[in-house]
Amino acid sequence: MQEYILKSDDFLVSQTDEKGIIKFANDDFCKVAGYTLEELVGQPHSVVRHSDMPKAAFKDLWETVKSDKIWTGYVKNRTKDGGYYWVFATVFPKYDTATKERSYISCRRKPSATEIQEIQELYKTMR
Ligand SMILES: Cc1cc2nc3c(=O)[nH]c(=O)nc-3n(C[C@H](O)[C@H](O)[C@H](O)COP(=O)(O)O)c2cc1C
Repeated sequence: MQEYILKSDDFLVSQTDEKGIIKFANDDFCKVAGYTLEELVGQPHSVVRHSDMPKAAFKDLWETVKSDKIWTGYVKNRTKDGGYYWVFATVFPKYDTATKERSYISCRRKPSATEIQEIQELYKTMR
């Protein structure tokens, strides 16, 4: 499987509703994941889930943001054509006072090769 290594100025952003349905993704996200914005909006965020990712990481992500805290962590995602890419993600809750809607935003940057190596070993020990 082909790895896409993020460029140092790649900055991937996506926004979901309370259930993890994608509402928005920026150009870098679409470019790296290999989808158009139209293909992503309305899909569950697990559309880019890679099978190597332990369930526990996403459990921790959801528990953290649901309790109004910021989650940071490493995520291996799947591209539309079956490749993959690693990101370092910061995920946080947002409350829109006008619409009274809660949503979640993830901003992702390139992790270093060493960081990827270390997290890969850790994720192998998790489920
Ligand atoms: C803002 C936000 C961004 C997310 N980004 C990703 C992501 O890039 N990749 C991913 O696999 N899951 C992401 N998730 C977690 C998914 O919602 C989901 O929990 C995960 O893919 C596991 O899928 P499953 O619960 O169907 O097993 C994100 C969740 C939120 C709230």
